[in-house]
Amino acid sequence: MKKNTIATLNAMKANGEKISQLTAYDYSTARLVDAAGINTVLVGDSLGMTMQGYEDTLPVTMEEMIVYGRSVGRACKDAFVILDMPFMSYQVSVEQAVENAGRLMKECQANAVKLEGGKSVCPQIAAITACGIPVCAHIGMTPQSVNSFGGFKVQGKGEKEARRVLEDALAVEAAGAFMVVLECVPPKLAALITKKTHLITIGIGAGAGCDGQVLVYQDLLGMSGGFVPKFVKRFADIGEEMQTAFRAYDAEVKAGQFPTAEQTYAKSDCSDDFLASLDAEF
Ligand code: KIV
Repeated sequence: MKKNTIATLNAMKANGEKISQLTAYDYSTARLVDAAGINTVLVGDSLGMTMQGYEDTLPVTMEEMIVYGRSVGRACKDAFVILDMPFMSYQVSVEQAVENAGRLMKECQANAVKLEGGKSVCPQIAAITACGIPVCAHIGMTPQSVNSFGGFKVQGKGEKEARRVLEDALAVEAAGAFMVVLECVPPKLAALITKKTHLITIGIGAGAGCDGQVLVYQDLLGMSGGFVPKFVKRFADIGEEMQTAFRAYDAEVKAGQFPTAEQTYAKSDCSDDFLASLDAEF
């Protein structure tokens, strides 16, 4: 497979080919995602929840995004890598946004950055894209605003809200974004945004009318504990498989069944006579 770029992704949209996106946060997972032919990898700030165990994404810092992002950047040969800008790394000022977007690109070998918000972050989107950094916007249910929403709730319900979400999409497009994540947006509204803009629309809980789909990889592999949103489809039960393997390992270690000769370096041992002399000496 060849490297996914803005040009190849735009061509996919133009040809009506669906685009796949998955999150990844570490080298070994990103390598597998890349090898599977997934078009774009998102180092989402969802890592605050999936990798760090926080209740939401707000505590994630720039330094943490860089640590995770670097590992993913090194792993992806073909996938287009997008890094999330964490909470309060772009809201304070346009200068702060440009500086932090630049750091993510320089330090992580990213191909684009993603930030949450519509009209309110258009000055940031315009300034970042003016530096030659592609921007993916994120509208609808934007997890960094969970406290304003009063929980992780579907957005764009009702006529006034639907108009607001469409206006946000048009605004981020005009500001220069090339892609937008539509999270928890009603499906007909998401399809309308896909039709009315040139943005590559990536849906999560936004129906099949988007140009592509994204999921958090732990959700699709059955590795996330607790609440699983309605939009998740479980494609495997790796969480259960891992537990089975961990239990088997635990049992073998405790029963003295692991390791066996097969897993030891017996040929490197000294002679029995020499080991007996060591035994006597010490
Ligand atoms: O942080 C993230 O993983 C995301 C996706 C859920 C779209 O923003």
